Amino acid sequence: MSEAPPPPVPASRDIDVLRRAAAACTACDLVKTGSQTVFGEGAADAAIMLVGEQPGDSEDRAGRPFVGPAGRVLDDGLEAAGIDRRVVYITNAVKHFKWTPRGKRRIHAKPNGLEVAACRPWLDAEIMAVRPQLIVCLGATAAQALLGRDFRVTKHRGEVIRLADGTPVTATVHPSSILREPDDEARHAAMNEFAHDLRTASAQLNPVRDC
Ligand code: URA
Repeated sequence: MSEAPPPPVPASRDIDVLRRAAAACTACDLVKTGSQTVFGEGAADAAIMLVGEQPGDSEDRAGRPFVGPAGRVLDDGLEAAGIDRRVVYITNAVKHFKWTPRGKRRIHAKPNGLEVAACRPWLDAEIMAVRPQLIVCLGATAAQALLGRDFRVTKHRGEVIRLADGTPVTATVHPSSILREPDDEARHAAMNEFAHDLRTASAQLNPVRDC
């Protein structure tokens, strides 16, 4: 943990207020490895909130979630599912980039339980602010942050579970896992399943009715 106590998470439902406060967060040591807090972004009243693991190298540089290679896979999945990225809210369970050096490259390192827990108040604040109809966790870190350490995406993918406040949560794979598939055929199949999960999630939303 950093020496100074972290500034409190504001009791605000304004995403911009939260984003500005999170920029000064020192709740865990990742503040020393990431170059900036990468807060969530998207529609403040989004029906769907997508939660990834943590920013990667590109996101750390840009200060925006899912703008690198995994973001391109996510964009393809959203497009295939007929979901406009501009109408969802996208964030991460951990808001600083954790990495280890390999030569000149910064290689992603998985955040540990303490780091996920330190960031959880920010995720909770985003959920309170956006009040999504459905949260879709992208991969195990996000799913376990919200649904508990025993949650297995391989076993519970697509199931809908409610948080204590009643918000429904479901989980699918992380877009990076699709990039790691061994060949084009496997990547294609994994992308189809990912898009299917996103489409199924979107189909569960209450339609907006015209009066
Ligand atoms: N992977 C994530 O989980 N989140 C990002 O923002 C980028 C890559």
